[in-house]
Amino acid sequence: MDNKIELLQNKIKSAYLGGGIDRIEKQHKGGKLTARERVHFLLDPDSFEEIGLMVTHRCTDFGMENQQILGDGVITGYGTIHSRLVYVFAQDFTVFGGSLSETHAEKICKLMDLAMKNGAPVIGLNDSGGARIQEGVSSLGGYADIFYRNTLSSGVIPQISAIMGPCAGGAVYSPAITDFTIMVENSSYMFVTGPNVVKTVTNETVTSEELGGASTHASKSGVTHLTAHNDLDCLNRIRTLLSYIPQNCESKTPNIEYLLKEEFRPVLDNIIPENANQPYDMKEVIQGIVDDESFFEIHEQYAENIIVGFARLAGRSIGIIANQPISLAGVLDVNSSKKGGRFVRFCDCFNIPMLVLVDVPGFLPGTDQEWNGIITNGAKLLYAFSEATVPRITLITRKAYGGAYDVMNSKHIGADLNFAWPTAEIAVMGAKGASEIIFRKEIVEAADPAQKLLEKEKEYADTFANPYKAASRGFIDEVILPNDSRRKLIKGFAMLENKKVDRPKRKHGNIPL
Ligand code: HXC
Repeated sequence: MDNKIELLQNKIKSAYLGGGIDRIEKQHKGGKLTARERVHFLLDPDSFEEIGLMVTHRCTDFGMENQQILGDGVITGYGTIHSRLVYVFAQDFTVFGGSLSETHAEKICKLMDLAMKNGAPVIGLNDSGGARIQEGVSSLGGYADIFYRNTLSSGVIPQISAIMGPCAGGAVYSPAITDFTIMVENSSYMFVTGPNVVKTVTNETVTSEELGGASTHASKSGVTHLTAHNDLDCLNRIRTLLSYIPQNCESKTPNIEYLLKEEFRPVLDNIIPENANQPYDMKEVIQGIVDDESFFEIHEQYAENIIVGFARLAGRSIGIIANQPISLAGVLDVNSSKKGGRFVRFCDCFNIPMLVLVDVPGFLPGTDQEWNGIITNGAKLLYAFSEATVPRITLITRKAYGGAYDVMNSKHIGADLNFAWPTAEIAVMGAKGASEIIFRKEIVEAADPAQKLLEKEKEYADTFANPYKAASRGFIDEVILPNDSRRKLIKGFAMLENKKVDRPKRKHGNIPL
């Protein structure tokens, strides 16, 4: 018996890379961590319990029967983050390049099944050369088993993918289905086909970093939601992200206790410029409204004309969707619609109330936009807002023009409370463009057309470039002062705390993908 225990202890010791994890804190210098170190830093201290340490692969081809390594290249188990249960897997690149065998996949699937039954997030720390080449189709099947579970878990439990090394081929589709992807700068990459294949097929010369590095996917493709400077930063960012998100679709957001105090914010009075065509930074409005340093931006470098992210308002976790006037005047285009739509759907899946800040001159015109499907893509954002049943509050700070007024969480598509600042302009289009169309004849025939245009512009602006017409129709519930916005929003979300909406029974809607 003693012999067996000793054997087991030796096996476990060797699997822990020769000497436990006590040494990790002392040795870590901010670079690449081992798989076990990553799990250690991700979770609350001493909370990790491993499942499947003894699993080895079943492959007998290519001499693999003589190469058995405990755990088969992936560490799986559960632990806590901020004292809440999470499931985690970490691929170990030192074992067959972290490649995914049939048994490696089985371990991940077992974890995902447990997570679904127990309603807790799954975090995948990916670092893998892809399908285990020696195993052929068994490994491909293993990937598909994971994709299937990713899909069935979507909207039930949060799923987060960290890319901390290579992630190539079909392997990229598991992270793509999960809710959030975070990539480590300069040490991770994702692509369906690598630089060599690209060269052969398209004759383009490109490096792995250019093709699928963190900065490429953060700014060009939008595949990654977040980036991190190094492994440790990545794990910390996952911890922060989880602090805003509930455990599953049936639980409430993790809120922090907050005692109401003086909630006026005079700083908000000075943000909107006198000149309506002058841009300003909507992030200043966000910072002025939410709890100090609580804004956690998602997709920061992608489609910067819309801002999305989490924050706290009087301790309550909320999602923010906001037009950004300093980028393309805050216009809605293909990419910003996709970005906004995806975030709205995440918030709605997981009971996160939404605050929508509006300053939008409309949809971006042009052949590029039309040919790239601004119609279908704009509809994604419209659809996502319309189907959302979480508490939804809109605040129009300045422009809300045309179709974009409807799309940006208007009263008509189900927003619960709609506020506007006195600087709001709610109209079909800007006063100049509108006057040029509807008063064209009068202007052309006038002795001084330029003067006439100015007159008509003023007339139109006096009628529509304000929030009062919309308020008189009840489309705006209240015109509020900037400095009082935080207080109003805190009260509004508290009032909506127990909001419940039943939708007609259906299998699922058909969002214009
Ligand atoms: C088995 C693999 C492996 C794999 C790497 N290794 N990838 N073993 N299956 N897919 C092994 C290597 O043989 C090597 O073993 C060790 O891992 C480290 O690999 P290196 O090549 O030495 O490391 P590095 O130079 O850092 O290069 C990393 C790499 C490269 C770029 C990821 O290993 C690579 O190109 N691997 C193959 C990638 C690939 O084509 N995978 C299939 C993708 S298709 P030793 O014993 O020498 O240390 C796919 C389909 C999924 O995944 C489909 C889902 C639907």
